[in-house]
Amino acid sequence: MSATARKSRRVLVVGATGRLGVAIAEALADRGDEVVLTARDPNKLEAISASLARPSTGSKPAVFVCADLTHRDAVERIVEGLRAAVPPTAERGSIDDIVLACGPFPRTPFQELRREDLERTFTVHAVAPLLLVHALAGDLAKAQGAIVGLGDAGTTRPYEHHVAYLTAKGAVRTGLRALAVELAPDVRVNIVELGIVADPEADADPLRQHRLATRSQLGRFGTPQEVVHVVLSLLDATWATGETWGIGS
Ligand SMILES: NC(=O)c1ccc[n+]([C@@H]2O[C@H](COP(=O)([O-])OP(=O)(O)OC[C@H]3O[C@@H](n4cnc5c(N)ncnc54)[C@H](OP(=O)(O)O)[C@@H]3O)[C@@H](O)[C@H]2O)c1
Repeated sequence: MSATARKSRRVLVVGATGRLGVAIAEALADRGDEVVLTARDPNKLEAISASLARPSTGSKPAVFVCADLTHRDAVERIVEGLRAAVPPTAERGSIDDIVLACGPFPRTPFQELRREDLERTFTVHAVAPLLLVHALAGDLAKAQGAIVGLGDAGTTRPYEHHVAYLTAKGAVRTGLRALAVELAPDVRVNIVELGIVADPEADADPLRQHRLATRSQLGRFGTPQEVVHVVLSLLDATWATGETWGIGS
């Protein structure tokens, strides 16, 4: 398909203020898609929304909806915000595609692991995203839509001090794989399972960074652009569902 023939998509980026979420939202806006953002922090959302306006193409600041995914009403808030900002029509829903790039990376040393850590991480990474997809499935189906979730290579090769996070990422990977079956053939669901792009502890510790980087086959951390490339490819991969594309392991 030529670039000029490509029809613009309306894509919800969940976790749109994160290092990967921002890069994904920018790349989508650059290729002419309409981006809708959600995350917690209204100030960051406002700044990113403004930065996504493309005066050259006449595109306006991106619509955004603030929601804390640990809150029980977060999914309803996001859907209501979306419906108000981008009302659905008989032919098209409020959203065509979703990229799931949300959630914290909490360090949970095994000796200090608490129920609260597990529940909170599980809620943000798995429960809320899966319920959000459930709530918007009809919209996605109208657009023959796609979901791409960011997974973590640590779910197949675990590392230490992150039991809560890795458990939650494993759950969302399985949940998305199950949704690929539930939503076929109208909606495709694929996962990018990535190694390290950034590690909060390694940022301040070059030795740790070196040790982690050399553990991966390509000997280095990835860049947001390398993740973006795979996310966009999977959004566009019209003959792929239920797939996991591993990068940087
Ligand atoms: N970076 C890596 O090396 C790496 C490696 C493997 C997998 N991943 C996965 O890739 C995804 C993005 O990673 P990243 O590095 O971009 O993360 P990040 O920079 O920490 O950004 C996380 C995003 O999630 C949002 N978020 C966090 N807690 C939330 C909550 N309770 N409710 C709503 N939104 C919340 C943040 O919003 P606020 O700004 O509003 O807090 C932010 O937009 C994550 O799913 C992560 O597991 C990343």
